[in-house]
Amino acid sequence: MAKILAVGIATIDIVNLVSAYPEEDDEIRVVSQRISRGGNATNTLVVLSQLAHQCAWTGVLIDESDAKIVTDDLDRYQIDYQSCSMLAEGKLPTSYITLSEQTASRTIIHHRDCPELSFSSFSNLDLTRYDWIHFEGRNIDELEKMLRWMKQHHPTIPCSLEIEKPRPGVEDLFAFADVLLFSKPYARHVGYESPEQFLETMNYDAIMTCSWGDQGAWLKQGKQSIHHPALEVNRLVDTLGAGDTFNAGIISGLVNHYSIEKTLADACHLAGIKCGQLGFDNVVSSS
Ligand code: FRU
Repeated sequence: MAKILAVGIATIDIVNLVSAYPEEDDEIRVVSQRISRGGNATNTLVVLSQLAHQCAWTGVLIDESDAKIVTDDLDRYQIDYQSCSMLAEGKLPTSYITLSEQTASRTIIHHRDCPELSFSSFSNLDLTRYDWIHFEGRNIDELEKMLRWMKQHHPTIPCSLEIEKPRPGVEDLFAFADVLLFSKPYARHVGYESPEQFLETMNYDAIMTCSWGDQGAWLKQGKQSIHHPALEVNRLVDTLGAGDTFNAGIISGLVNHYSIEKTLADACHLAGIKCGQLGFDNVVSSS
């Protein structure tokens, strides 16, 4: 069991399950709707907590009625959010998500009217309490200060960085992380259709992963590159947060000092289990 802090966002996810993805300008009814907590960093924590780690989240919360959706869920997983910045005004980031029963694809339309976490809030935390710190690759200017802070003041605490979306300046952060978790959309954005070739060109002194949907995932450490196939899932149900789940598997394996082979295999397995079920509940006990 490790003490893990994640820095990033919590969202309100309004997930509309539809039998098939609609055409533009169509009018259709949903099969069902769920409103739940989402956000990459907190999704990853919910899985890490099920993997028996002691988890904490720092980010921005807004004092509004929907905040209870976030805090109730974090409470359910014993995730500590005491160090969050609580703002009196604004709206929690909200994602309107269309989840297709036919393909399990999740189309996200995101609304954001909420400031990002400041470096000064982060640097006021007692970071010596944690064994690992995970950062969501967003809020680049402040994040660079946070990562520099870690290198200067806490060089022995491992830091992972998730790079899901291409964002201006995100590349400047790579040199500060011990673990770089790349997504397929990012690798494709920078011109690669092969995760292996993409990782080959990335010359950083970090463990790097790149997940690639139903083709599984790749991990590179130094000159060694390994692949693990995706779990065969009987029926794809919900791919929302599959990448966040994979990242939790990688962090958990590395913080537990498992071999890179076992770490990657476990992460692929967990992500596959997640795709076969709705949401994150019991994603570990179903494994
Ligand atoms: C899934 C997710 C959702 C959230 C969106 C934010 O990875 O974190 O829970 O609404 O992405 O980009």
